[in-house]
Amino acid sequence: MVEQAARKYPSLDFAVEDATAFRSPREFDAVFSNAALHWVKDAGAAVETVRLALRPGGRFVAELGGRGNVAAVVAAVTEALAEKDISAAERDPWYFPSLAEYAGLLERSGLRVVHAGHFDRPTPLEGGEDGLLHWLETFGGEFFRGLSGEERRLVLDRVVEKARPALYREGVWTVDYVRLRVAAVKG
Ligand code: BEZ
Repeated sequence: MVEQAARKYPSLDFAVEDATAFRSPREFDAVFSNAALHWVKDAGAAVETVRLALRPGGRFVAELGGRGNVAAVVAAVTEALAEKDISAAERDPWYFPSLAEYAGLLERSGLRVVHAGHFDRPTPLEGGEDGLLHWLETFGGEFFRGLSGEERRLVLDRVVEKARPALYREGVWTVDYVRLRVAAVKG
């Protein structure tokens, strides 16, 4: 993605950095993030990175998975892994905070929250019958780490079976995304 972006916008600088540790001698007018911060478990460190990157008055605008995001998927993964005596919670790669939790984190770090919303955004997947399987293979790898190819395939099939009543209708999988959207200003 970054290589493609760099080709498309050659006048801009692109870098791949760790959100919990990135530091720049420059101060920026704005920091924007979409669908990335729920992969960063150390949310406090990521918010500190954002705060340090902003100039006074600079804006932070972000959307990430909020509390309850993909809950039906996680429930199905949890049940399917439990059948193999594996704890999904111990492998869960995601951080889905509540609105109050994330707004509190921003405020404690010195950012003033000017907008915050927490809303459902059910999202249909492409791929028909295989839509959820593809989604799990793309995003859920951490849950299935260490399983052999055959075991993985069987567990994935169980996840799909368990999630079907909640998420599959008339040939389309619809994932239960819940978004947290915030805008905050550095004082
Ligand atoms: C999302 O909410 O955008 C998301 C959550 C987990 C995996 C992939 C995407």
